[in-house]
Amino acid sequence: MLKAERLVKVNIIIIFRKYCAMSVHSQLNVIQVSGLTKQVSTFEGNLTILSDINFSVKSGDSIAIVGASGSGKSTLLSLLAGLDVASKGDVILDGQSLNRLDEEARAKVRAEKIGFVFQSFMLVHSLTALENVMLPAELAGDKHAKEQAITLLNKVGLSHRLAHYPSQLSGGEQQRVAIARAFIGSPKILFADEPSANLDTHNGHLIETLLFDLNQQNGTTLVLVTHDEHLAKQCNRIIHIEGGQLEKISQGVIENVG
Ligand SMILES: Nc1ncnc2c1ncn2[C@@H]1O[C@H](COP(=O)(O)OP(=O)(O)OP(=O)(O)O)[C@@H](O)[C@H]1O
Ligand SMILES: [Mg+2]
Repeated sequence: MLKAERLVKVNIIIIFRKYCAMSVHSQLNVIQVSGLTKQVSTFEGNLTILSDINFSVKSGDSIAIVGASGSGKSTLLSLLAGLDVASKGDVILDGQSLNRLDEEARAKVRAEKIGFVFQSFMLVHSLTALENVMLPAELAGDKHAKEQAITLLNKVGLSHRLAHYPSQLSGGEQQRVAIARAFIGSPKILFADEPSANLDTHNGHLIETLLFDLNQQNGTTLVLVTHDEHLAKQCNRIIHIEGGQLEKISQGVIENVG
């Protein structure tokens, strides 16, 4: 073989190995965030809410996002879950570039892979607690939606409130309904915005146990926004956001799975 041919062959092997390494890497990372920036236009001009955020989350990891009020945590969570679109950068969610998908395709990804607990709960006010929890499973054509919803409402301590409408529930009860709804269908990734914010110690503990049971038993990746230091420390890693920028990433008390 000629020297030049050998050189070409060696280069091809190097490129192939790099490609394989990249594939393995992206398989492990269920979320890959690169250069994520969010700007909105306001009366006072362009406002940058998030600026050049970069990090990755391995499958089965538990991540807490912490930071002061207004630092951009909810905005970040919405972008990670494909509920909002980035101004720059991208989120690769389970191998799919969210930037390249239209709203319909992002809705499909959300329905198939994601559970989301909104900071403001976002329950459907014309549906009962049971119907709210059943809804995502029913839309997915699951025949066991009702049994699953009852089991989940039981787990969040609300078996006595199945027929209540959101307006007939306390803030903490609405939050627990929202959590039960996010769990239905055993999502691959669960995003929760301040899941324990309105709960007393007992119910906070109940939700915390539920979240980490799901993480450990089903391998569900958890991404939680929280002001609760205790909850944050239960996670593998803590992402600190300050003024729309990633300040640092620290370790929680649980060892990394990856
Ligand atoms: N659509 C928008 N238009 C203008 N400003 C916005 C918009 N969305 C968010 N912001 C601003 O961006 C900043 C970050 O908002 P975000 O809701 O992400 O904060 P947060 O860290 O979740 O705060 P909190 O802990 O209070 O929930 C806030 O100052 C907010 O006012
Ligand atoms: Mg918020």
